[in-house]
Amino acid sequence: MDTPTSGIPSALGPTSEGIPRRIRKAKVTEVVTKPGVAETAAESEPQFHFSLRPQEIARHLGRFVIGQTEAKKVLSVALCDHFQHVRLTESGQSVPFYQKQNVLLLGPTGVGKTHLIRSAAELIGVPFVKADATKFSETGYVGGDVDDLIRDLYRRSGNNIRKAEHGIVYLDEVDKLATRDAGAGRDVSGRGVQTNLLKLMEDAEVPLVSPNDVTGQLQAAMSTMRGGVPTKETLNTRHILFIVSGAFSGMDALVRRRLLGDLNTGRAARLAAASTDDLISQTATADLIAYGLEPEFIGRLPVRVACHGLDEDDLFDVLRKSESSLIHQYVRAFSAYGIDVEFRDDSLRALASLAAREGTGARGLMTICERVFRDFKFRLPSSGVRRFLVNEALVQDPSAALKRLLGTARKR
Ligand SMILES: Nc1ncnc2c1ncn2[C@@H]1O[C@H](COP(=O)(O)OP(=O)(O)O)[C@@H](O)[C@H]1O
Ligand SMILES: [Mg+2]
Repeated sequence: MDTPTSGIPSALGPTSEGIPRRIRKAKVTEVVTKPGVAETAAESEPQFHFSLRPQEIARHLGRFVIGQTEAKKVLSVALCDHFQHVRLTESGQSVPFYQKQNVLLLGPTGVGKTHLIRSAAELIGVPFVKADATKFSETGYVGGDVDDLIRDLYRRSGNNIRKAEHGIVYLDEVDKLATRDAGAGRDVSGRGVQTNLLKLMEDAEVPLVSPNDVTGQLQAAMSTMRGGVPTKETLNTRHILFIVSGAFSGMDALVRRRLLGDLNTGRAARLAAASTDDLISQTATADLIAYGLEPEFIGRLPVRVACHGLDEDDLFDVLRKSESSLIHQYVRAFSAYGIDVEFRDDSLRALASLAAREGTGARGLMTICERVFRDFKFRLPSSGVRRFLVNEALVQDPSAALKRLLGTARKR
């Protein structure tokens, strides 16, 4: 590839770059599923051998997620703490007064909150479930629903209780559980869901078969009647790590108001100039309560970190540097029809600039790319075009570029 192009390889897929050799090597007796994490087969043996260090996790996250340095740091430390704790409890040691390092991630939409957690969960190979808090809001006081999260975790772990009991639950859109906006009709159910989650985050026994699952209940009863080995029927949530996130739009105004309130000197002007990112990163417990979350709920989320918005330069890097860049997806889609596409850096810059105006973080890249390449994806597979170059001109005027491209293909 020559210099003006992005350097994005067309042969794709994650590399093992960045994972130190030490943690890639597995002992012969272990079945390694993820770097640094080995699983043992027997139920009686420790379920995880974890050798990753915080900086190694952060480096891994850096392959996929651009920016968000603070969130990477905080998450890496929380995950390592989680595993060290798991290791101790697995080895039968009692760990008095351990406070779970549950994490609250704040930040605008499309800046990598979910992407961070997903990339981390893939690396460490613990059972992991993700759900939107809004999914539970309608059911209000029916606690069964949040318990389903834990049952999902159990299924994800291949019905292995011990593994599931050390898994990670990721709950997105927790800001929607806030109750300050009583007029929105979410107030009552939001609080109910927070209360139910609270119990899970603390120490609850969740039945493996939902009380609402009649078939499941019957099957369990039949199995016991047939003399099946009585199995443990509940799953304890004491050691499950909870990570929650939300956009918390309007939080900056609450933070600003609070800071102005305890202002003593002429810092008001500086505060007036503070960016949304600055303000969000100063979110305190009082602000989360003012936003409408229950103090007990926030109290179970001791680790808090804000993700910053993505500007044009960040979006350019998301396209150019991230191993999960959307560009790879486009290269793959065209190559499925035998078409080689090469992206020049000026095209990535133009895409980033258009996406930045959307105000939806990296999601804006998807919107813009879809719009720019829609007709290319429709027309090119049935044309004689075998390769094309994406440059700034193509991004600015896709239909003219497509017309030119099809014209030259026809003449050949
Ligand atoms: N910081 C980032 N670095 C790389 N890709 C990102 C980043 N933020 C978002 N993306 C891309 O945008 C998509 C949507 O981001 P997501 O993590 O779901 O946003 P949210 O912060 O709303 O959870 C991701 O799947 C990923 O492809
Ligand atoms: Mg998300």
